[in-house]
Amino acid sequence: MHMPLITWRKEFETGVTDVDHEHRELVELINSLHDEIAAGAGRNRIHDFLGEVFARIAAHFALEESIMRKHRYDEYEAHKAEHEVLLDEIRDIMDRAESGSAEDYGSALSETVRDWFINHFKSKDARLHKNLGV
Ligand SMILES: [Fe+2]
Ligand SMILES: [Fe+2]
Repeated sequence: MHMPLITWRKEFETGVTDVDHEHRELVELINSLHDEIAAGAGRNRIHDFLGEVFARIAAHFALEESIMRKHRYDEYEAHKAEHEVLLDEIRDIMDRAESGSAEDYGSALSETVRDWFINHFKSKDARLHKNLGV
């Protein structure tokens, strides 16, 4: 039995209920994808799963962006720009999944989501609550 890719930590919590709820769902989804890759799931399965991960993350970013716009959040532009970089990275992984081996996109996925949780999640998202006034 291997470790989950991401273990939920208290410090991930932003204090914005809807955002925290989706963050937990995304952690579970990404851990499931990681499990499937580790268990040797087929290319089509992984491709479909990556598509779902992309759609769910894109929807999550849209939620955060709408909350930020609604509250005229001071760092909206920088936060949104980082979301766009992350979506580009996932698109790159999906392109690699089309052509490469499971190992290629499995490790790329791990690196990308770790970056996401360690950098974006803790810096950009953690700042939301304090500075939104919600
Ligand atoms: Fe987020
Ligand atoms: Fe964010």
